Amino acid sequence: MKQTVATLQKKKRDGEKIAMITAYDYTMARLCNEAGVDMILVGDSLGMVMLGYEDTVSVTMEDMIHHSRAVARGSASALVVTDMPFMSYRTGREEALRNAGRLLAEGRAQAVKLEGGAELADLVRDMVCCGIPVVGHLGLTPQSVNTLGGYRVQAREEASALRLLEDARALEAAGVFALVLECVPSPLAALVTQSVSCITIGIGAGPHCDGQVLVGQDLLAMYSNLCPRFVRHFAEAGTVIRDGVAKYCACVRDGSFPGTEHSFAMDAEVLLRLRQRLGLGEPRP
Ligand code: KIV
Repeated sequence: MKQTVATLQKKKRDGEKIAMITAYDYTMARLCNEAGVDMILVGDSLGMVMLGYEDTVSVTMEDMIHHSRAVARGSASALVVTDMPFMSYRTGREEALRNAGRLLAEGRAQAVKLEGGAELADLVRDMVCCGIPVVGHLGLTPQSVNTLGGYRVQAREEASALRLLEDARALEAAGVFALVLECVPSPLAALVTQSVSCITIGIGAGPHCDGQVLVGQDLLAMYSNLCPRFVRHFAEAGTVIRDGVAKYCACVRDGSFPGTEHSFAMDAEVLLRLRQRLGLGEPRP
């Protein structure tokens, strides 16, 4: 069954946890769908995980559309949410709406996600009015890494925790259907989850959110540049891939691959005529 905003909201009402994962390509999207994931996030973390940048700041609209289209093609059941990249929604209402629209029309996303609080409420309202489902993102917002001064836990103090609660309420009132809470204390994420009717999705925010999201490459142990405390390795896919590729290299080098079972035969007469044309005579037995 294809997940929609309505089916996900029902999961929250029924107390059923929502599983979200980031994916950036068709093959991974298909595997995630086969595994039964509810939501796929085409996160701008693709800048680091897929493109090798040191942060998400250099990711462009074109990058997001390219990866979003690929994921959407492989996503039969999971709802696809695509990140609006750095500065694509901060330079004016019109440009923000146009960019959000492109992620749906060209990137085939079913919703967009943007990082920020109450200051985005009017924009969120406009997007929702245009028929664009929106996910908010509070707490550690990686696009602001240069002002936050690094990737660390947010809203530990009373004032910043209150601000986050107010941001959550403002975004909810503006119409977001879900909120990602990244790297915030677990009790605060629980308070937000109790205070809003929209879905909360945690990452480094403890177990009390309505759902969880992790970067696919993190939970599969494929990306080792950064390993935040909130990540669990559910499979050692990095090791499996490295070992597989190393075996392939060894077999190519020792001549044991490809074998006859991987090769295509040719009619002996045809081969003989070709050899005669080339003056090579009959093949050796
Ligand atoms: O870009 C991303 O992967 C994200 C998740 C960390 C929530 O925004």
